[in-house]
Amino acid sequence: MEQLIKQLDQYRKDIEAYMTATAETAEEFRIKYLGTKGIVKSVMGEMKNVAPEERKHFGQILNEFKQTVEEKYHQLKESSAEKTETAGAAFDYSLPADNFLTGSRHPLSIVRSRIISIFSRLGFAVAEGPEIEDDWHNFGSMNLPEDHPARDMQDTFYINNSKEEGIWLLRTHTSNVQARVMEKQKPPIRVICPGRVYRNETVSARAHCFFHQVEGLCVDTNISFADLKHTLYFFVKEMFGSDVKIRFRPSYFPFTEPSAEMDISCLICEGDGCAVCKHTGWVEILGSGMVHPKVLENFDIDPNKYTGFAFGMGMERICQLLYRVNDLRLYSQNDIRFLQQFTGSV
Ligand code: PHE
Repeated sequence: MEQLIKQLDQYRKDIEAYMTATAETAEEFRIKYLGTKGIVKSVMGEMKNVAPEERKHFGQILNEFKQTVEEKYHQLKESSAEKTETAGAAFDYSLPADNFLTGSRHPLSIVRSRIISIFSRLGFAVAEGPEIEDDWHNFGSMNLPEDHPARDMQDTFYINNSKEEGIWLLRTHTSNVQARVMEKQKPPIRVICPGRVYRNETVSARAHCFFHQVEGLCVDTNISFADLKHTLYFFVKEMFGSDVKIRFRPSYFPFTEPSAEMDISCLICEGDGCAVCKHTGWVEILGSGMVHPKVLENFDIDPNKYTGFAFGMGMERICQLLYRVNDLRLYSQNDIRFLQQFTGSV
C-alpha cells in the first residue's frame, strides 16, 4: 500500500513534467495513462489487493489520480490543437488560388435554344403546357378516341385511369400543348412546343422513360405540304449545315393526314453506314404531316377554311447527331464528366 502511494507520487511528477504537446505526444500520453493497458487501469486493478477497511480511503486517492490524468490529457490536447492553428500562420499567400469550376449548360438546353432560335426566325412562338395531362388533351382531341389501336404506339404512364374520377396521365408527347393552344387561340397559329414527355419504356442506352420533344404547329389559310417541307428544310440546314441530305417517307399518325417521317443523311458516318443509322446512311429525326381535319374541328377551327401542318422531333436524337452521345441515360445521370464537355456555346 505504501509502495503504491509512492508510485502514484512518482506518476504525478511525471505527469506534471508534460507541458505542451503535439497531436502525437498527446496521443502517446493518452495511450500510456488512459489506454486499455494504461497506468490508470493498472493502478485501479490494485484495489483488489487492498484491505477492506482501507478501500474507501484508497479508492478516493485513485479517483483523484485518475482525474489529474484526465485533466492533463485535455490540457495537452488543447495545446496541440492551438499549435496546429498557429501552424496556419505559415500559409503561403503567394500560392495560386484553387480554380472554381465554371458551370456549363446541359447539352439538351443548348439544343433546345438553338431549335427555338431557328424557328423563331420563321415566326414561331414558344408554347408550353402541363406534363400531367387529361385524356382529352393528350389523346382524344388528337383524333385518338378511346380504344383506338394507335394508343398502343405510345406506352402511357397513367396517374388515374378510371372513368368516374377522370383519366390523368403523364403526357406522351407535347401535342397536348398544340391542343391547348388551339383551344385558346384561333388561326393564324405558329407555335413550337418544347418539353419533357414520358413513356413507359424500360430504360436502356436507346430508350428512356422520359425524353424531350419539340413539336410544331402552323395553322392558317392556304397552308400546304410545301410549307411543311420548306419549314423543315430550313430547320435542318440551319441546324446541321447545308450539306445534309433530307428525305420524306410516307407514315401514319392519327392526328395528321397525309403523314410523313423525315430522315436526314447520317452525320456520324456520312452515309458509309454505322450503328446509329443501322447501316442505311439515313437517320429518322421527326414525324410530321398535315393536321387532320378532325383535329381542327375538335377546336372549332373550320377545316374548309384553314389547313395546317404539324411536326414532332426528339431533342435527344438531335443532340446525339450533333454531339455523338450514344447513350440516352447520360442526359439524366448528372455525371459532371459528361456535362463538362458542353462548355462552348454552339
Ligand atoms: N406526336 C408525335 C409523337 O410523339 C410526333 C408528331 C407530331 C408526328 C406532329 C406528326 C405530327 O410521336
